[in-house]
Amino acid sequence: MSQTGKFSKRIFIIGAGFMGRGIAQICAQHGFSVSLIDNDKEVLADARKEILWSLEKLFSKKQMAEEPGDIIKRVVFSVNPDVHDKVDFLIECVPEDISLKKTVLVHYDKICPSETIFATNTSAIPIGKIAASTTRSDRLIGTHFASPPVMQKLVEVIPSLMTSKETVLNTRSFLENLERDIVEVKVDKAGFIMNRIYLASAAEGIRLLECGVASSAEIDRAMRVGFGWSKGPLEAADLAGLDIIRAAMISIWEDTADPRFSPPESLTRLVEAGRLGRKTGSGFYDYSKGDKTKKS
Ligand SMILES: NC(=O)c1ccc[n+]([C@@H]2O[C@H](COP(=O)([O-])OP(=O)(O)OC[C@H]3O[C@@H](n4cnc5c(N)ncnc54)[C@H](O)[C@@H]3O)[C@@H](O)[C@H]2O)c1
Repeated sequence: MSQTGKFSKRIFIIGAGFMGRGIAQICAQHGFSVSLIDNDKEVLADARKEILWSLEKLFSKKQMAEEPGDIIKRVVFSVNPDVHDKVDFLIECVPEDISLKKTVLVHYDKICPSETIFATNTSAIPIGKIAASTTRSDRLIGTHFASPPVMQKLVEVIPSLMTSKETVLNTRSFLENLERDIVEVKVDKAGFIMNRIYLASAAEGIRLLECGVASSAEIDRAMRVGFGWSKGPLEAADLAGLDIIRAAMISIWEDTADPRFSPPESLTRLVEAGRLGRKTGSGFYDYSKGDKTKKS
């Protein structure tokens, strides 16, 4: 696929979890050289396996023409990246924790070339809060990829008050090269568009479950069948990761003081118990036997 515009070289993706590996895959599929970076070697090995599995599936269904083996060659899996080469774009995909995100970005701010654009994939933290800790707040922007990124084309682009117009244009050009569908957010408010609406629904769904109004399966079915959602609010929460959605609710709650975003108690208990959804085999549903089974 073509690579027009400014970005034709290397993309750094920090964090090889659920989102980072998916974004790395779509960058490689569209011809970019990618360094996928994580501080956990096992996560990197798992990411490599999953990307290859996903590419082989797309290839066997004739949804892409290039051989999976050729695409994966464009991805370097690394705990310790080499930044001597030019880095055109860096996408931060570490967990939804503002101090961790700042630490990671400050570290890469020191070692990356000054022209590298930094993007954060935060689900809900206002971009300005993260950008202010770096020396490149004009070259830092939010790119919130819808999940899972290999299937969903939408990306919210969120400039902060400090982001330059040139950074917005270059980011749009990069995302167009990835064939993404872009929604630009005009004001840098916690939760942006997607999570402001989705997390309010998820919190209400969880509260209905807590009150015993209906089972998780019935709450999800109501929204799937009644509103045409592809996933109900609880199954979507399990897919995203309950730690991630709880942290995102807290970011919006802190920013707006709106009590609708205060995390429901049962969500907090599940996170404390390490039941984070699909990625740990249990959340609002049980995944221990493969696909989800009804829990309540
Ligand atoms: N899960 C979703 O559906 C979803 C959707 C859109 C945006 N997001 C956002 O994307 C970001 C990542 O979410 P995720 O679901 O991929 O999380 P995840 O927990 O699956 O992955 C995070 C990865 O970051 C790694 N990491 C932690 N500290 C690191 C460091 N210092 N250096 C390098 N790697 C480090 C972890 O080992 C882990 O593999 C979060 O900000 C989240 O809010 C998530």
